[in-house]
Amino acid sequence: MRFATRAIHAGQDADPLTGAVVPPIYLATTFQQERPGKHKGFEYTRTQNPTRKSLEECITQLEEGSATACFASGVSAISAIIQNLSPGDGIVAGHDLYGGTVRLFDKVYSYWGIEVVYADDNQIPSFEQAIRKLSRPRLIWIESPTNPLLKIVDMGAIAEVAHRYGLKLAVDNTFATPYLQKPLLLGADYVVHSSTKYLGGHSDVLGGAVTVKNYEDIKPIQFIQNSIGAVPSPFDCYLLMRGIKTLHVRMERHCDNAERIVAFLCGHPKVQKVYYPGLEQSPLSDVVKKQMKRFGGMVTVELKDIETLNRFCERVKIFTLAESLGAVESLFCVPYYMTHAGLSEEKKQKLGVYPTLVRLSIGIEDVEDLLSDLEQALE
Ligand SMILES: Cc1ncc(COP(=O)(O)O)c(C=O)c1O
Repeated sequence: MRFATRAIHAGQDADPLTGAVVPPIYLATTFQQERPGKHKGFEYTRTQNPTRKSLEECITQLEEGSATACFASGVSAISAIIQNLSPGDGIVAGHDLYGGTVRLFDKVYSYWGIEVVYADDNQIPSFEQAIRKLSRPRLIWIESPTNPLLKIVDMGAIAEVAHRYGLKLAVDNTFATPYLQKPLLLGADYVVHSSTKYLGGHSDVLGGAVTVKNYEDIKPIQFIQNSIGAVPSPFDCYLLMRGIKTLHVRMERHCDNAERIVAFLCGHPKVQKVYYPGLEQSPLSDVVKKQMKRFGGMVTVELKDIETLNRFCERVKIFTLAESLGAVESLFCVPYYMTHAGLSEEKKQKLGVYPTLVRLSIGIEDVEDLLSDLEQALE
């Protein structure tokens, strides 16, 4: 089956009991056993749940992996991978990551003895240098496109480096989604999602997922999923499956709208710089074309000055100032004060997260309305 068919049907056969075409929301927390230890594959909902199983199967097929474990949030999915490391193990992290991932690395797991070294940029030599700085390197962690600067990492090349040094590669695929890129086919070992974003797509459900390339890697992730218990409710799993059914349609529209908005913003007198992976002058634009089907719905702009930023925030009407991204409605945030507020001033400067940087999550409204809104807000 092709992507759109899998998005609608994978893991979601008609219910054998009633013929219902939408899988039931199994709220039961516990399941009858025929005799001790003999059951139909479900014992207790923290461990396995039929609705969650449908969602996990669907995401596995979209990412073209071998198994998925779903979590209550993106950060708990990230944690499940890290919690399989031991004190003294090391992570090499990409240059520009979601602020909450950096917070987990620097302010949670570093206290548990996990060493993290950041690559200075997203180029291969800096990943290799970072690996050599660690006494027991185990994992490379990247996003592509990154948050918020939408930088691209050559995933095939990073996977080659990771495997040459005996490390695993984890890719946070939240921004691109499996519709636009498939990290496991490019050599990654784990794909992580904040399914709160494009997979859910409607700003009404929190979730996370880890999909593995090799089946044996899911067992330790499932062990953490069950032991820590950060699992999504069956109702949230249902909402996610409902959202995923339109992922391919939404992503095409996000990309169409983003391309029109990028064309409007480039060269606008109030805009200093536009960040979008699809721009010809973007670094690694040849890699982008190789690893992404289209360039996504996220656009980041550096405005001319603080006055322009303040006026923009006051005047904009359709774009809502809010955290999060990837939903049908257009949102914007100022990472310096919002998603990346927890980073030190030095780190923000080093990354290029300036106070005038605005991250736009382009929704699927009528693009003419979005353009008029931006135009009047920047006037
Ligand atoms: C790229 C990325 N990864 C992970 C997360 C964390 O996900 P959640 O908020 O669902 O815990 C986010 C949240 O914004 C994100 O943008």
